[in-house]
Amino acid sequence: MTTAATRTEALLAARRGRLGPSLSVSYHDPLEIVRGEGQYLFDRAGERYLDCVNNVCHVGHCEPRVVAAGQRQLATLNTNTRYLHESILEYARRLTATLPAELSVCYFVNSGSEANELALRLARTHTGARDVVVLEHGYHGHTQALIDLGHYKFAGRGGQGAPETTHVVPLPDPYRGPHKGYEPATGAAYARHVETAWEQALAAGRRPAAFLAESISGCGGQVVFPAGFLAGAYTATRAVGGVCIADEVQVGCGRVGRAFWGFELQGVVPDIVTLGKPIGNGHPMAAVATTPEIAASFANGMEYFNTFGGNPVSCAIGLAVLDVIQEDGLQRHALAVGERFMRGLRDLGARHPLVGDVRGEGLFIGLELVRDRATLEPAAAAADELVETLRHRGILLSTDGPHHNVVKIKPPLVFTHENADEVVEALDDVLATL
Ligand SMILES: Cc1ncc(COP(=O)(O)O)c(C=O)c1O
Repeated sequence: MTTAATRTEALLAARRGRLGPSLSVSYHDPLEIVRGEGQYLFDRAGERYLDCVNNVCHVGHCEPRVVAAGQRQLATLNTNTRYLHESILEYARRLTATLPAELSVCYFVNSGSEANELALRLARTHTGARDVVVLEHGYHGHTQALIDLGHYKFAGRGGQGAPETTHVVPLPDPYRGPHKGYEPATGAAYARHVETAWEQALAAGRRPAAFLAESISGCGGQVVFPAGFLAGAYTATRAVGGVCIADEVQVGCGRVGRAFWGFELQGVVPDIVTLGKPIGNGHPMAAVATTPEIAASFANGMEYFNTFGGNPVSCAIGLAVLDVIQEDGLQRHALAVGERFMRGLRDLGARHPLVGDVRGEGLFIGLELVRDRATLEPAAAAADELVETLRHRGILLSTDGPHHNVVKIKPPLVFTHENADEVVEALDDVLATL
């Protein structure tokens, strides 16, 4: 074995022992990444990799203005929210300025899981009910309450099924789902499943608390919903007294290009929105935004305290991320690069029968591989081989979806037109070999 391979084996063995064997690692030949810059990652040997999957380092790995803002504040003060501090108010003001006017109250937390957990508490306190309708193949976080709401987890390997408070409806997948296409009639057909789920829950004596869904499904395989789906699902939920939660942890903050938040693409205003990953560019921070009415219900005497949420360092970083998105026009950039990328991927479909579907919004893209375009037989092994081959060509991608046959593309927003062309060219080469 080479020295590098020996080192990889030693690190893997140490991980298994010290970090628990349930922690996964990307790629058959794992990478030891030691540095990041913009859309690139570098391994110990100095090899450069084009990062096509990290939607957390949203404005680029180690973006200098974000790093400087964090360093400055870390050298000045870091405390909790029990002292008055301007930065949390400024950050709440700037964040809510990007959201519909109704969502004017913010809570700050440390991870997407924590944001969804808090959203669930807000919904349950406000409605006095517990039941939630979720989408098939959804993932919302790793806490017990969220495993119980994440079909991807409770119905997956090691899962123990859903509790009686969770009601699952089909993922509105225009390509593979029971209703096809992006038309409003398809959106309405999927929304009817939400209506039916609530009817059945009510008939069984259950009481509606919330409808929880991502605005574009990530773990479901980068699935963009048909027109009107969220509007119909929200109407059905509100009609029975529930509130609507949009999980923007993956897709939010300018990535989808045509809008700043994913739910805007569907023309809805949620009652609660959860934000995570991209808002801190890699710093562990997340947030929940809601209406004054729901915030008032939540203020039932129990204090909301969070040791780290909303600390001055996180707020300085969050403000810097918003500044960079705005100063560098990254939302517009995501739209332009994403459209060119998807055009290139669709062109590949003319030459490679494995390309089943290309879908996405801005720089949140899915490339679904199939063995047969008529039966939609998933090409999971080919998708896996594609990702592994490209890793050795310095391009980092991953797969997801219930059949593990969707190549996920969600790079830092500084990804360029040339980067998109480079990936399309590499895919063209590799698809020809599969
Ligand atoms: C849609 C969605 N919601 C919530 C989470 C949980 O976020 P975190 O891992 O920061 O707890 C994730 C994480 O992958 C996610 O994809």
